[in-house]
Amino acid sequence: MKPNPGGQLDPNEIVGRDALIAEIWDILEGRNIYMNDLRRIGKTMILNKMAADPPRGWLVSKRDLGGLRTAAEFASRVYRDTHTLLTGKKRAMRQMTRWLGAMAGAEIGGILKLPDGSEAPWKETLSRTFADLHEQQHQSGNDRVLFLWDEVPFLLDNIRVEEGAERAMEVLDTLRSLSQDYPSIRLVLTGSVGIHHVLTQLRKVGYNNSPLNTFERVSPGPLDRPAATQLAKALLEGAALRVDEPDSVAESVATLTGDVPFYIHRLISRMSKSEPATPQAFETRLNRELLEADNDWDLAHYRNRLRKYYPDDNDETVALAILDALAISGTPMGQRQLMNQVKSTVEPTDDEQIRDLLKLLLKDHYLSRDEEGNYSFRLEIVRRWWTQDRIP
Ligand SMILES: Nc1ncnc2c1ncn2[C@@H]1O[C@H](COP(=O)(O)OP(=O)(O)OP(=O)(O)O)[C@@H](O)[C@H]1O
Ligand SMILES: [Mg+2]
Repeated sequence: MKPNPGGQLDPNEIVGRDALIAEIWDILEGRNIYMNDLRRIGKTMILNKMAADPPRGWLVSKRDLGGLRTAAEFASRVYRDTHTLLTGKKRAMRQMTRWLGAMAGAEIGGILKLPDGSEAPWKETLSRTFADLHEQQHQSGNDRVLFLWDEVPFLLDNIRVEEGAERAMEVLDTLRSLSQDYPSIRLVLTGSVGIHHVLTQLRKVGYNNSPLNTFERVSPGPLDRPAATQLAKALLEGAALRVDEPDSVAESVATLTGDVPFYIHRLISRMSKSEPATPQAFETRLNRELLEADNDWDLAHYRNRLRKYYPDDNDETVALAILDALAISGTPMGQRQLMNQVKSTVEPTDDEQIRDLLKLLLKDHYLSRDEEGNYSFRLEIVRRWWTQDRIP
C-alpha cells in the first residue's frame, strides 16, 4: 500500500474500524447517528467503508453535502440520490414522478423543476422523496435505507449565510421530523465542525429547538493500536523504506502519530529512502515537519478555528491560555491548578468562564479528561505541534 495522505482510498485500503462500524450498524437498528470528531481523524473513510459493504437489507447512499449552498440544492440532491438508489433496484418513485410530471428530473442549476417550470419547493421535495422511499420499503423486501451525509455543519452554515438563519432552522427541523416519521430511513450525519457551533449561531437569533437530541453521538477517535501498526507496516513496505525491524518501527510510527491514519500516511510519505528508517529518524523527521511554518499536516486549523468559533469576549485569549498551559505542562492537569495558571496569565477572567471554555474544548475534541478528572490534549501530536508552534 502506497502512502496517500488525504487522498481517496480503495475500500480495501481503509484499515481497521471494523468494531466501530459493527457498532454503528447496531445503533442504526434503533437510532440515527451524529458523528463528529477532529478534522482528518478518518470520518469520511468510515462512511466509505460502510457504503462499500453494507449488511444485507440496507440500501446505502453516501454524499458529501459541504458544497451545497441552499435548501433547494440539498433537497434536489437527496431526490437525485434516492432516484439513483431505487432505479438500481428497478423501483419507482411514485409520488415524485407524478409531482414532477413532464419535467421529470429536469434541473436548472442543480434545482428540480415542476411542470410549470417553477422550482420544486424544497420541503415538499424532501417529504415526498421520503414518502416514496417508505412506500418502497413496504412493497419490496423490507430493505431499509441509510443516508450517509458528510459535512452537514458546512451545509447548514452555507444555508444560513446564503438564505438566512430562518431557513437553516427549518432545514434542521425538517430533518428532525422526517427522521421521526420514517423509522425505515436512517441518517448518519457527519462533520468536523461540531453541530453545537451551528446551533450557537442559530440560538443567537432565537432558535430554541434541539433537533438532533435523539441522534446517537459517535466520536471515532484514532485507530486502535493494532490497526495503526498494521497500516504503518503496510505503508513502510509500500514506500520501499529501509527498515530493519518492520514490527517495532511500525509500532513507533503509530506511537509518534497518535494512531491517526492521516498522520501515519503523511509521516511515512516524508521519510527519505536513502537513510535507514529507524524510530529515531522518524521522530527527527516529525519534529522537522511540524516546525515548518507552512506545513501540510492540517494542524494550523487548531489555532485558527478558535478565532471563528470562540469569538465572544476574550474567549479566544482564555482558550489559548488553557491550551498553552497544558502544552507546556506535558502532563495532565487538575482543574484547580489549570484555573490558577490561566488566571495568572489572563485578566480579566473568572472560574465560570474557564469552566465553560473547558467544556467547549472537550466538546471540540481539543482536550480529554482522565478518570481523575485531569485535563490533557486529546492527541499528543497536536500538543507537540502546539508547543513547537507557540511556545518560545
Ligand atoms: N482507516 C483508515 N485506513 C487508512 N487510511 C486512512 C484511514 N482513515 C483515514 N485515512 C487517511 O487519512 C485521510 C483522512 O481521512 P478522512 O478524509 O476520512 O478524514 P475526515 O475525518 O473525514 O477529515 P475531514 O474532517 O477533514 O473531512 C485519508 O485520506 C487517508 O489518507
Ligand atoms: Mg471528511
